[in-house]
Parts: sequence; C-alpha cells; structure tokens
Amino acid sequence: MSSSADRPVPGSPAELAKALEATGYLADDGLATAAYLALKMNRPLFCEGEPGTGKTALAQAMAEVLGAELIRLQCHEGIDASQALYDWDFPRQLLHLRALEAAAGAASEKLDADAVEASLYDQRFLIARPVLRALRTSPSVLLVDEVDRADDEFEAFLLEVLTEHAVTIPEVGEVRAVTPPLVVLTSNRTREVHDALKRRCLYLWLDHPDLTREIAILRSRLPGVPERLAGQVAKAVRTMRGLELLKPPGVAESLDWARALQLLGASELDLDSAAASLGAVLKYREDADRVRAQLDAVMA
Ligand SMILES: Nc1ncnc2c1ncn2[C@@H]1O[C@H](COP(=O)(O)OP(=O)(O)OP(=O)(O)O)[C@@H](O)[C@H]1O
Ligand SMILES: [Mg+2]
Repeated sequence: MSSSADRPVPGSPAELAKALEATGYLADDGLATAAYLALKMNRPLFCEGEPGTGKTALAQAMAEVLGAELIRLQCHEGIDASQALYDWDFPRQLLHLRALEAAAGAASEKLDADAVEASLYDQRFLIARPVLRALRTSPSVLLVDEVDRADDEFEAFLLEVLTEHAVTIPEVGEVRAVTPPLVVLTSNRTREVHDALKRRCLYLWLDHPDLTREIAILRSRLPGVPERLAGQVAKAVRTMRGLELLKPPGVAESLDWARALQLLGASELDLDSAAASLGAVLKYREDADRVRAQLDAVMA
C-alpha cells in the first residue's frame, strides 16, 4: 500500500497505534510495529493466535485507518481457486447464447462461432471473487481469514498470488493490482501453515491482552460499562485463562460477558450475577462446571 491511498499511511508505529485506537482497536507496541512494517515493506501480515485475540478485528481496523475497502476471503476445508478468484456466470452465459441463437434464427443468419465465444467470455459474465476483487480495488485490505482451514494446494495458489500481485484469466488476460492490497492472513493454528507462505509474510503472534489493555478494550468497545465492572470482568477472565479450560475465553467472550452483565443491570460482578451470566463467557459444560465449583476463587 502506498501513500496514494485515500488517507496517508501513518508515519511511525506509534502513529499507527494512535490511528488504530481512533477506530476502537487497541494495539500494543509489537502489534503496531508489525502492522506498520507490513505496510511499509508491502508484505502480507500473518497473524496467529488463540481465538478471540483480535486477528480479524485488526484487518478491519487497518482498512478503516487506510480508508481502504476491506475484502474478506473466509477459508474453509475444500476451498479452491475458483471460490477465491473468479467464476463464470454459467446460467447468464447460457441465456446470452440462447438470445443470440434466437436473434440469428429470426434473421435467418448463421452464428459466427468465434464471435459467439468471445461474447460469452465478456467481463459482464465474470464473477469476481475476493482475491480478484482485491487486485482490482485500490486501496484495499484483503483479509484471508483462517487460512489454516484450507489445504496445501490452496496455500500454493495463495503464495503465487501474493508474490505476483497479479493473476491470469485465460479468456481475459492478466489482472495486475495497480496498488497491491494490504494482505492480512489469520490462523488459529489448527495446523501449521507452510514455511514458503510464512516466509513471504511478516509474522505476528497475538496473545490475550494484559489486564490494563483488556480493561481499556472493554471500555472502548462498551462505553456504557462502568470502570469497576470492566475491571472485575477482565480480572475474572484472566483467572479463567489460567485454569486449563477446554475453551479459554478470548476478548470476544470478555466483551460478551460485560455486555450480558450490563443487560442484567449488574453494576458489579458478584457471585450471583457471575453465576447467572456464565454462559456468555464459557461455552463448554465442563468449563462452566469447573468454574462454578470455584467461583469465589475465580472472582477473588
Ligand atoms: N486489541 C483490541 N482492541 C479492540 N478490540 C479488540 C481487540 N482485540 C480483540 N478485540 C475485540 O474482540 C472481539 C474478538 O476479536 P476477533 O474476532 O478479531 O478475534 P479473532 O482473533 O479473529 O478470533 P477467531 O480466531 O475466533 O476468529 C472483537 O469484537 C474485537 O473487536
Ligand atoms: Mg477471526
């Protein structure tokens, strides 16, 4: 991404952190530096971390900072290049062909096969998927979300696109990005992504925020939540993360919990309000049982 973007690229990691904060995203020094370098070095940012640590939200916040369009490619098992890049709109092509045939029949003319083929592969029948849209949109942020769910073959495809910033569509020709998109890849590390892809990227491990930052996130995302309640929630969630639960709560769960408590009219976290709202923060029965059995210790 260059400074030809709608908004100028912040001039330092600290400036970027400030700009991110203005969107409601609170970055620590390591995160702001990695994101700043990704912009300046024009390299994809590979974000790995526990669920709910702000990987997806970072891409959203970066797009806002840059005044860029956020284009998201959600990866899943079996995703292939046609779902990421483009497809031809077969039903519309067929309708077009029928219309041509009908018109020719009415005029008693013969169709020119080459001309018909060329018109069938007109751009209007091209369905641009996220990667192609990102190459054509300037400025843009391409979020390749949960890349660990895709397979090796798809990774190889991504690697090629991210290296070239261009793709070739046989019937259309080459599509090259005027300004390469800022690419943010996220992974929950359900499997290791190949070194070849990682080598292309700058790497960022996102951890759960420290207590002060988590309170700040709660206050920034939920301005109506009293400071005391935000502090209690952040502290209890932090303790829960140390209990080796099946699914330790992320920031998403802290936010849900604080919101749930707010909706229940609780001005502070006590044993009753915690027990009543535990489903907002723990999503496994075993985890809930475990925490319930030591609720006073968790909230100490
Ligand atoms: N540093 C932060 N500043 C502000 N909000 C944050 C921050 N980190 C996380 N959040 C908020 O926490 C919630 C979860 O974040 P997000 O969805 O980005 O997590 P994730 O790492 O992508 O999780 P998953 O791996 O489950 O997809 C979002 O509402 C997000 O806005
Ligand atoms: Mg995510």
